[in-house]
Amino acid sequence: MSTGTGAAAFRRVCALADVPDEGALGLEVDDTPIAVVRSEGQVYAISDVCSHAEVALSEGDVEDGTIECWLHGSCFDLASGKPINPPATRPVATYPVKIDGDDVLVSLDKNS
Ligand code: FES
Repeated sequence: MSTGTGAAAFRRVCALADVPDEGALGLEVDDTPIAVVRSEGQVYAISDVCSHAEVALSEGDVEDGTIECWLHGSCFDLASGKPINPPATRPVATYPVKIDGDDVLVSLDKNS
């Protein structure tokens, strides 16, 4: 039957083809803003709200496993959600991702 608790359930959020290479797709999953990001062949899901001011990270540039906030330039590590440079000092939430064929599945059960 089903595995795990409801909170840990993975659900399909988009097609893999919808996530640009070295780019991001901003989505809402159960009213939670999520950025699905592809960098260097890996797919990540992070909060789509910068921890510095509330703007969408999915509109920033993606490079080398990081995403750069378009407003003040903090870069966040996509795997850990940690900021690499100021002005942001707090990490953003990261979420578990699974790829199933051409589907991207995300769990809202935060990694961090
Ligand atoms: S709003 Fe993202 S770094 Fe300031």
